[in-house]
Amino acid sequence: DYSAKVERLLSQMTLEEKLGQLNQYSNASDQTGPITRNSDGQIDEIRKGRVGSMLNVRGAKNTRLLQQEALKSRLKIPMIFGQDVVHGYRVTFPLPLAEAASWDLEMIEKTARVAATEAAASGIQWTFAPMVDISRDARWGRVMEGAGEDTYLGSKIAVARVRGFQGKGIGQLDAVMACAKHFAAYGAAVAGRDYNSVDMSLRQLWQYYLPPFKAAVDAGAATLMNSFNDLNGTPATASAYLQRDILKGAWKFDGFVVSDWGSIGEMIPHGYAKDCKDAAEMAMNGGSDMDMESRCYIENLAVLLKEGKVKEAQINDAVRRILTKKFELGLFENPYRFSDEKREKQVLNSPAFREVARDMARKSIVLLKNEKQVLPLAKNLKTIALVGPLAKSNEDMKGFWSVDWGKNDQLVSLYEGVQAKVGNQAKLLYAQGCGVEDTSTQGFAQAVQAAQQADVVVMAVGEKYDMSGEGHSRSNIHLPGVQEELIKAIQATGKPVVVLVMGGRPLIFNWTADHVPAIAFTWWLGSEAGNAMADVLFGDYNPSGKLPMSFPRSEGQLPLYYNYLHTGRWPQNDSEKQYKSAYLDVSNSPRYAFGYGLSYTKFEYSDLKLSRKNMTDTDQIEVSFVLKNAGTREGEEVVQLYLRDVVAQPLRPVQELKDFRKVKLKAQETTQIRFVIDREKLAFYNDQLDWITQAGDFDLMIGAACNDIRLTDHFTLTK
Ligand code: IFM
Repeated sequence: DYSAKVERLLSQMTLEEKLGQLNQYSNASDQTGPITRNSDGQIDEIRKGRVGSMLNVRGAKNTRLLQQEALKSRLKIPMIFGQDVVHGYRVTFPLPLAEAASWDLEMIEKTARVAATEAAASGIQWTFAPMVDISRDARWGRVMEGAGEDTYLGSKIAVARVRGFQGKGIGQLDAVMACAKHFAAYGAAVAGRDYNSVDMSLRQLWQYYLPPFKAAVDAGAATLMNSFNDLNGTPATASAYLQRDILKGAWKFDGFVVSDWGSIGEMIPHGYAKDCKDAAEMAMNGGSDMDMESRCYIENLAVLLKEGKVKEAQINDAVRRILTKKFELGLFENPYRFSDEKREKQVLNSPAFREVARDMARKSIVLLKNEKQVLPLAKNLKTIALVGPLAKSNEDMKGFWSVDWGKNDQLVSLYEGVQAKVGNQAKLLYAQGCGVEDTSTQGFAQAVQAAQQADVVVMAVGEKYDMSGEGHSRSNIHLPGVQEELIKAIQATGKPVVVLVMGGRPLIFNWTADHVPAIAFTWWLGSEAGNAMADVLFGDYNPSGKLPMSFPRSEGQLPLYYNYLHTGRWPQNDSEKQYKSAYLDVSNSPRYAFGYGLSYTKFEYSDLKLSRKNMTDTDQIEVSFVLKNAGTREGEEVVQLYLRDVVAQPLRPVQELKDFRKVKLKAQETTQIRFVIDREKLAFYNDQLDWITQAGDFDLMIGAACNDIRLTDHFTLTK
C-alpha cells in the first residue's frame, strides 16, 4: 500500500506539478508535444515536471534519455511510457480479432504475456490494450482490434489479455499496465463509421457493452481509456455517469482513466464544449484523469480551479491515482528499471516467442469450407501455384496496429511459408493476378497459365492490412477490386482451388463461398503468418478456429449478430419475405455464423444429461454430454453452450452464449464435457437496471456453432 507515500508527495506538489501529472504527450507523430519541436525549451516542459507520461517513445535507450529529463524536475517524478502494444511488440501476433477466433484463452493470455515481456524490456510500462469493445458491424474498421460480437466470449478474452499483460502484477519487470478501452460503447458507432455517435438504451449498454470492461476491472486492469464517441448525447470523455458513477463508483476502480488521443479537445468540434477551457472543465468533472494530447488540462485547469469550476479534490484524486501506479511500477525506486538495453537485446524476437506466434497464428485460422477433401494438401504434390495479390506479401501480414519497425523482414509471407514447408519436393509457381484494389484483369492470363500447370492452386486474396483499423471504416466490405473475378478465372481451370482470405474484418465473397471447394479465413496472422498457413494447408496443424463475428451476405444486413431479439413477425424460412421482419432481396441469416469453423476431423455430440429439470435461483444444474472425435486425426473442438429464456419481459435474445470449452481429442477418442448452469447464466438487466431472473422455461442448446446445434433440452426456473 503506497498511500502514505503518495500523500506525502502530493502534499509537496505545486498545482502546476500536479497538472503535469495529468498531461500526456506523444513523441513520433505528435503535433503538440515537446519532443518533436527541436528547441530545448520544449524539453524544458519535462524538466519542469509538466509531463506525467509519454506515448510513442520506445526502446530502452530513448526512454532512458527522456526519463533523465523528467528526473531533472524539482520533485523528480518519473514519467510512464505508454504504447499501443495491441498484438505483439517486436514479435507480431495475429490481430486480436483473429486471436479471438482461437477461443483459446490460455494462448491469448500467453501472447499478451510475450508482448508485455518484450515491451517492458524496451522501456514501456503501459500498453493501450486490450480493446474490449463489442462490435456487431463489420464496416467499422476497428473490429480487428477486439474480440468480436459476443459479450461472454469478449469478457473472457478481456480477462485473459489483462492477465497476460499484467502477469504477476505491475511492477514486475515483465509486466505492463493494461488499459481496457474504449469506455464505453465505441463499438456501436452508428453505421460502423469510426468516431460516430452512439445512441442506445442503458439496458443494452449494461447487458452487452459494459460486461467486458467490468471483467477487465475485476481482473485488475490498471487503467482504462475513454472513447471518442458520445453516448446518448454526452461525449464519453465528459461522462460522469460512465467514469464517476459506474467505473470509479459502483465498480470501485482504483486505477486511472486516460482520454483518447485529443478526445478532450475534440469535444469542441463535437459541439459539446465551446473551447478548450470548457472541454477541460467537462472532462475533469466527468472523471477523465489524464489528458492525452489535447493540452486542455495543462493550459486550463489552474484557471478553472481558481474560478471554482473544478474542485481541488478532483485534481488531487486524479494525481493520486496516477502517482499510485508510478509507485506500483517501482519507478520511484528506480526510474530506469524498464530501460535496460542488455535485457532488451536478450528478450526481443526470441525463437521461443516466435514459436508462440506460430502456434497462435495457426489456432486463429478458420476453415470455412472443405469439400472434396481438397485440404489438407498432400505433401508429395509436384507443382503448386500460389496466386493472388497477397501470396507474396510480407507487409500485410503485420496487420493494422502493429508496432512499426520500419521494415518487414520479420514477417513470413504465404509464399515463404509454403516454400519452407515443401523445400525441393514441389515446384512453386507464382502469379499475382491483380493487385488488391485493381480494376484491371490484365494479369489474369498469367495467373490462369500458372494454375493450368499446377496440381493445386492456393489463392491469397483479401484486404490490404491498412484497409481495416482505426479510421479505416468501409461501406463496401466485399473482396476489393477484381479479386473475385480472378477467383472465377482460376476456378474455371478445373484445378483444385484453395482460397485463403485475409483481412481485418468479416468480408463478403458469396461467389467464392458457393463455388470454390476449400476456403479458409486467415486474417492477418503476424510474424509467423506464412508458416502457420502452411501448417494448416499441409495438415501439420488441424484447424480449430471458430468465428467470433458473423460474416454477412450483404452490407445491407449490418449490423449483424447472432443474439438478436425475435420480432412478432420473424420469418420461419427464407421464402417468407413480405410483411415479415426480413429483406426482399437477402436472407436474414449470415453467410458464416458466429461460432462456425470446420476441422479436418469430425466431432460427434451425444448423451446429453441434465442433473435436474427444475431449479431455483440458488440451485445449479449440471449439464453433461459426450464428445467424440469420430475422424481419423487429432483435432480440437470448441463446444458451445447457448441458452434462451423463452418468455421474458423485457425480451431476451433467441440464443446467448453462456459457456464454451476448447477440447483436444485424438482420433476416435471420447470425453465427457460438463457445464454448470447457475443463476448468473440466467440473469439479465431489466429496464431499472436490476440484475434479475424470471421464472419460466429455458431452452438449452449445445453445438459446434450458434447455427449448428447438436443437442437440445430445456429446464424451468421456479421462484
Ligand atoms: O490507444 C489509441 C486509441 O485506441 C485510439 N487513438 C489513439 C490512441 C493512442 O495511440
